[in-house]
Amino acid sequence: MNTISYGRQFIDDDDISEVVKTLKSDYLTQGPKIDEFEKALCEYFGCKYAVLFSNGTAALHGAYFVSGIKKGDEFITTPITFAASANAGLYMGACPVFCDIDENTYNIDADMILNRVSEKTKVVTPVSYGGNPFDFEKIYSPLKEKGIVIIHDAAHALGAKRKGFGITHMCDMAMVSFHPVKHITTGEGGVILTDIKEFYEKLRLFRSHGITKDQSRLKYGNEPWYYEMQDLGYNYRITDIQCALGISQLKKAERFIKRRNEIAGIYYNELKDFSKFKIVKPYEDDDTVNAFHLYPVLLENSRERKRFFDYMRENNVWVQVHYIPVHLMPYYRDNFGFKEGDFPKAENFYEREVSVPMYPFLSDSELEYVIGLMKKFYSYSQST
Ligand SMILES: Cc1ncc(COP(=O)(O)O)c(C=O)c1O
Repeated sequence: MNTISYGRQFIDDDDISEVVKTLKSDYLTQGPKIDEFEKALCEYFGCKYAVLFSNGTAALHGAYFVSGIKKGDEFITTPITFAASANAGLYMGACPVFCDIDENTYNIDADMILNRVSEKTKVVTPVSYGGNPFDFEKIYSPLKEKGIVIIHDAAHALGAKRKGFGITHMCDMAMVSFHPVKHITTGEGGVILTDIKEFYEKLRLFRSHGITKDQSRLKYGNEPWYYEMQDLGYNYRITDIQCALGISQLKKAERFIKRRNEIAGIYYNELKDFSKFKIVKPYEDDDTVNAFHLYPVLLENSRERKRFFDYMRENNVWVQVHYIPVHLMPYYRDNFGFKEGDFPKAENFYEREVSVPMYPFLSDSELEYVIGLMKKFYSYSQST
């Protein structure tokens, strides 16, 4: 039997044929597919600007860069995320401030953000964990009044909605990742979505060495070969090959999210009476959508979590744990003095969490197998 992973990509013949067409075209990079994918993303998310990057981390680096954050400033984010959400702030020399999570949503606690904001806070980066859209309502106005830049790390949340609004609502920039375990993929890739023209222009420079060829922006020349490096940037460009795949994948996004919610509904209905598992219920109203990048299951304690993890892996289900809290990473402990006990809810979540398979083409029989194993584990642990 093949291993069933916690997440994986879906590539069909249309995707392959679009990539092959681009491989046979004049441009493998810096060609027309980048603009085409950016336009398609603006249409899908209903925002003015999209700037694609070589990966989501580079995109986040761009977002922190254009926020103007610098050494001596602080940014606030959650410990329950992939390290990149915070690392991108460190690239700018800024200091990380974590807030504990809300035990119901597993997202950063909005009240704690408001308590931790200080004169030094320049950026707040909530993460919509697992695809459950963070609720910006409480923090948006107080943070904007203070001139704080809000970056939504929506790496997990393409297609998520709250009260009818998508991931670009009530933030200055939203980031989506196109890593293969995410909703749609370009192999590696990421995007910043924004309505702010100044950020858009700076992000485009930042992505490509800080260099512009735009005649209207040039300061010292206008010859046909002339270009200027106006800021210090990076080579964070995505290729046309990747964008061809992204354009084709985006057409399937809604279908993927619907199927993810269907799978979440089946997990929920099958397991809701098994009280040893704390599981996530899909939203029932159509205006609020969990994009279900992950399906996190909480066990009773760390011992049970380890047993469940081992049991599933022994039976060919490649479960994973999301996440080891960022503040407990040696780099963060050693450089910023974080320690165990700093964020008890996040740490408790980490000790109990296992992500079970969640991806659009997980078949009904595979899902049945996974749920069957979970029920077997449950009865086994009841009797021992
Ligand atoms: C919450 C979160 N933020 C940022 C990233 C970074 O994205 P990428 O892997 O595309 O660099 C990830 C990737 O897993 C993520 O899960």
